[in-house]
Amino acid sequence: MNDVSFSLNGKAVTTQPATGARLSETLRETLDGRDVKIGCNAGDCGACTVLLDGQPICACLTPTQQVSGQAVETLAGLHVSDPVAQMLGERFQDHGAAQCGICTPGMMVAAVALLREDPTPSEQAVKDALGGVLCRCTGYRKIIDAVMGRPAVLKDDGGVVGDSIRRLDGADKVAGVERFSDDVAPVGTLEILVIRSPFARAGFRFGDLAAWAAATDGVEAVLTAADVPGRNVFGVIPQFVDQPVFAETETRFRGEAVAAVVGTPAAIKALAPDDFPVTWSELPAATDIQTAQGSAAATLHEDRTGNVMCGGFVQCGDAKAALARAEVVVEGHFNSGFVEHGYIEPEAGFAQMVGDRVEIYAGTQAPVMDRDSLEIILGLDASKIRIVPTGIGGGFGSKLDLSVQPYLALATMKTGKPVRLTYSRRESMQSSTKRHPSDIQLRIGADRSGKVCGFDFYGEFDTGAYASWGPTVANRVPVHASGPYRITDYRAESKGIHTHNPPAGAFRGFGVPQSAIAQESLFDVLAEKLGMDPLEFRILNALENHVPTVCGQVFSQGVGIGKCLESLRTAWSAERGAAERFNATSETYKRGVGVAAGWYGCGNTSLPNPSTIKSGITPEGRVVLHQGAMDIGQGANTVIAQIFATALGVPTISVQLVGPDTDVTPDAGKTSASRQTYVSGAAARLSGLALRALVLKRMNVSEGAVLSFSEGLAVALDGGKTHRLDLATLETDAEGFAFCAIETYDPPTKPLDANGQGAPYAQFGYAAHLVVVEVDMKLGTVKPLKFVASHDVGQAINPLLVEGQVQGGIAQGLGMALMEEYLPGRTENLHDYLIPTIGDMPPVETIIIEEPDAHGPYGAKGLGEHVLIPTAPAILNAIYAATGARITQVPATPAIVRAAIKRVQS
Ligand code: FES
Repeated sequence: MNDVSFSLNGKAVTTQPATGARLSETLRETLDGRDVKIGCNAGDCGACTVLLDGQPICACLTPTQQVSGQAVETLAGLHVSDPVAQMLGERFQDHGAAQCGICTPGMMVAAVALLREDPTPSEQAVKDALGGVLCRCTGYRKIIDAVMGRPAVLKDDGGVVGDSIRRLDGADKVAGVERFSDDVAPVGTLEILVIRSPFARAGFRFGDLAAWAAATDGVEAVLTAADVPGRNVFGVIPQFVDQPVFAETETRFRGEAVAAVVGTPAAIKALAPDDFPVTWSELPAATDIQTAQGSAAATLHEDRTGNVMCGGFVQCGDAKAALARAEVVVEGHFNSGFVEHGYIEPEAGFAQMVGDRVEIYAGTQAPVMDRDSLEIILGLDASKIRIVPTGIGGGFGSKLDLSVQPYLALATMKTGKPVRLTYSRRESMQSSTKRHPSDIQLRIGADRSGKVCGFDFYGEFDTGAYASWGPTVANRVPVHASGPYRITDYRAESKGIHTHNPPAGAFRGFGVPQSAIAQESLFDVLAEKLGMDPLEFRILNALENHVPTVCGQVFSQGVGIGKCLESLRTAWSAERGAAERFNATSETYKRGVGVAAGWYGCGNTSLPNPSTIKSGITPEGRVVLHQGAMDIGQGANTVIAQIFATALGVPTISVQLVGPDTDVTPDAGKTSASRQTYVSGAAARLSGLALRALVLKRMNVSEGAVLSFSEGLAVALDGGKTHRLDLATLETDAEGFAFCAIETYDPPTKPLDANGQGAPYAQFGYAAHLVVVEVDMKLGTVKPLKFVASHDVGQAINPLLVEGQVQGGIAQGLGMALMEEYLPGRTENLHDYLIPTIGDMPPVETIIIEEPDAHGPYGAKGLGEHVLIPTAPAILNAIYAATGARITQVPATPAIVRAAIKRVQS
């Protein structure tokens, strides 16, 4: 190894990298440069972008030796000394351009290079300069706004509910100092290589593992199912806990773990999976739901006949009879493929023993669920396990499931040493959960007036080898498949089918985006047959207050779908007129405008779903909020603090957050099902109100008093008089709080009966999207040109963050509609699996509808899942409007679109 000297953020450094060592690795592991992120190690994601002599490069593709004598700049250095980077950091915060923040270092570094040369770039110049850096959260629009220096629309009247304030955690993200899951391990700790099945289904036999480990330099332990001290199984739904940490006799999907090697970093780096003593016997696999239900298919789980995991069912009225008497009936068959979450941060973490306790640091959406699962696997009492969530570089549902955590825990328990594990992009994609592929058949009828009068839905979902959140998908789909409409005669049945594919789990929408494609596409077909305008047809059938849903649930307030749809009327008329004019003079390119709607019940379906929030005042006058709701980029840290601060009556900026940690913060439940703003927000409101009541009572002032806390004092302005309370004179509790309030909120729901009748959710959120697309009639390529997205959020706690969620969700919906399909063995990286780039995202006009919800904090509703449900069907409807070709499967790749166009032209 030779010395390599270069300048790093203005300082001379010398290092001795191994031949060919990636610059990204040298920066992160030798030079304390963990602001440089690694998302793929293949130059696909751009997260590792740094400047080399002022030019942006992928550090993962650059050998360290190659930078000898040159100047390397990274975000952390730029943030300290470069005025352009500092200005950009302010703009990123003003626009909410960093959500999870894992792409932010690469994105900002690339933008700094642009702005140094062109301080006022055009939008196209920004897209060109940032085209190599992927973001999965933001939908890129706010990044474009920030780089171009467009005016930000902030509002800060103390950060109360309704204010568009900056994220409270934004400064660390733009400074490159937030610590994500691969950033927390000390350098040089033991590492892990997980041995995974190369086949969808295989038997396997180990060689002499002990002898192999003893003979292999640097290997400290080998773990298999025999090393699991508790039960070798995990899962998220109690009745469906079925996934082994290590397969025991045969593997059920490509990428399933059978063993793990623990060793020094050098040993793990030198180890190829083929070196490991295991013999595989490939077995016939069922990799689609038709084969899996055939008589020749292997049974994946003995207790699940015909590989049917479970089903869901909702029925009201008589769908069959209604369809028989309907004056117009349409039907369709729709398919979708696996969709990969594609977060830029692969799963990673670090674990260590502290006394007889095991501590795990990893990115997660559900720290308490992780602890509960590890209690079973490790055979330890929960008190012996501590989960400390790190920053998380995107989750979107998949990081609700365990990934690296069991391997880390087992390895540190076995060796007694600190251990680190980071998945490669390939093993992340192979082993993490996916969106369920779907196969849906639907019939819908209507009378001549346009009223929907019969609806019969049957959907099968490929849940892969293990249940994960498949039962949730099976249950949610029949509840939601109607869309946000009044339908009196309805039948919806769903089934989750096991295959030898990766487990399908939670992904933004839990199956609802798939069912919405079928329902919203057929609504357009039905409207056309009736000779009705598609938007007016939807408005005619839209659900309203006091009208039962298909589950028989009647909301007396809060149903906002009508307003969402009506808010699109102006754009609908204008954009359709513009498309018509364009098409009159264009042959190769045709434009179309599509519309679709969606709804989503916030929180668990008919199950307890509590969040607990603790807050307190210290003798020094600090206002402390224990915020256990994981912020995975969506903004929970800021939104829940705004709700709490409003309830307490103090500025949000004065609130000090204590982040999730199972030793410290109460359980705020998992970050899923669009529940944190609603459920944890409601708990935060209660906690703030209770804390305020304690202080007011102690100070003997009126309910309207204005409170403030500082320098050991509580001050109340009440009726023109100032009251002061010396907090240091008060007794404190065990945690040192002079005042403390712990409050829990659990949404009021009712169980569903055998026909799916009940009250599954206390609130729904509603959405309607309009999109303009341009289709190349010769190539079949589809380019979305503009979205108008209308969302009923009840009360926008922070409109800036609402917009960010909407734009990010639309980007994911666009990817699902047009380009994304995970194929095991074929698209296991980010150059074969395409997610939208900055060049794919058109402008998004967000319309915020506020139809307050009686249960939500200050009327707020959840939003996280709603944002992509209407996107894909709106795009498919727009393709039809442009071409006359109806697409019934996603992704609608150019080949599929071109073939459909050819069919209608022939
Ligand atoms: Fe870009 Fe999360 S903010 S990937």
